[in-house]
Amino acid sequence: MNGAKAKSAASMLESAWRAREAVLASAVGALRIFHGPAEGGGHSDLSRVAIEFFQSAFAGDAAAYAWVFAWEVGGKIALTDESRREIETFLRAKGVRGAVLLERPERGAPADACPLFGELPEFLDVEEFGLKYRIRFVGTKHPGLFLDHAPLREWLILNAGPRRVLNTFSYTGSLSVAARRGGAKRVVTLDLSRPTVAWARENWELNFGAEGVGAEGAADFIYGDVFEWLPKLAKRGDRFDAIILDPPSFSRSPKKTFSTAKDLPGLHAAALRLLDPGGLLITSINSAQIPHAQFRADVEAAARETKRRLVEVAPLGAPSLTFPGADYLKGWIFRAD
Ligand SMILES: C[S@@+](CC[C@H](N)C(=O)[O-])C[C@H]1O[C@@H](n2cnc3c(N)ncnc32)[C@H](O)[C@@H]1O
Repeated sequence: MNGAKAKSAASMLESAWRAREAVLASAVGALRIFHGPAEGGGHSDLSRVAIEFFQSAFAGDAAAYAWVFAWEVGGKIALTDESRREIETFLRAKGVRGAVLLERPERGAPADACPLFGELPEFLDVEEFGLKYRIRFVGTKHPGLFLDHAPLREWLILNAGPRRVLNTFSYTGSLSVAARRGGAKRVVTLDLSRPTVAWARENWELNFGAEGVGAEGAADFIYGDVFEWLPKLAKRGDRFDAIILDPPSFSRSPKKTFSTAKDLPGLHAAALRLLDPGGLLITSINSAQIPHAQFRADVEAAARETKRRLVEVAPLGAPSLTFPGADYLKGWIFRAD
């Protein structure tokens, strides 16, 4: 790559950073600082790269680390040595002590993240909207916090109120933590991955301690399949005032293979049967394959099937400042009468 192009890579990273300075200054310790598809200016490597910045929440320790994601585009997977150096130089200049690189997240990341440079901690606790979340770098395909869902976490903090919340497809439970901070009186967190449920519990305890964790307590953590558990909870008479659905595009459990292309109406109908009148149906998908209109039609089909009327409270999507142009994440908060 020639000097002019190298300089432009550095300046693209720098201008993305500057665009976020106000957020960085507001003590948000977890932020996408570069979103290549919109900010990579056609650079062959940077336009398929995203960078996320994580800063320690511990007072007096500003240690920061980063995750770098590189999509495969046109058969190109590995970053050039020059791109790696550019990214390292830029991140080190911002005080980042170490970073990992995850290749092909769009394909479910065939391999775990690998070290890109520097020393990496086993984990780092970061802060967002006054809540703490545990971020991991080693032996994982994801940091543990979906930064595109920050607007929903903020909404829950501001609006959850004293509801009984069921957070399905919960991953590391960040939405559970946000709902509790927003006043939820009970939060059930459900995911099909055992390590993920353990991580969700860690995130809860990081913020609220272990008290009240248990089947009848303020927080219950269930390892299991949503498709089995929604009917099971309905049968035993559990009811909720808010249900969060955020399924992956595709998943396989011992009893069922789920795909957003065919199973969204059934999933939403099963959730609506658990929701008391006036409850919130909070639903999103992270899939470029399913258009907005189809997703909406699937949710409305579920409402018709269960004879519920949905009133849209708010749309959901990735934050436009830090994920410019990203429209793959879509969803809504509905009130279900
Ligand atoms: C897109 S992530 C959800 C992210 C989460 N809402 C958040 O904000 O952090 C999808 C999660 O669904 C879980 N999952 C996939 N299939 C499942 C199933 N059949 N039942 C329960 N959880 C499932 C995965 O283990 C993964 O943690």
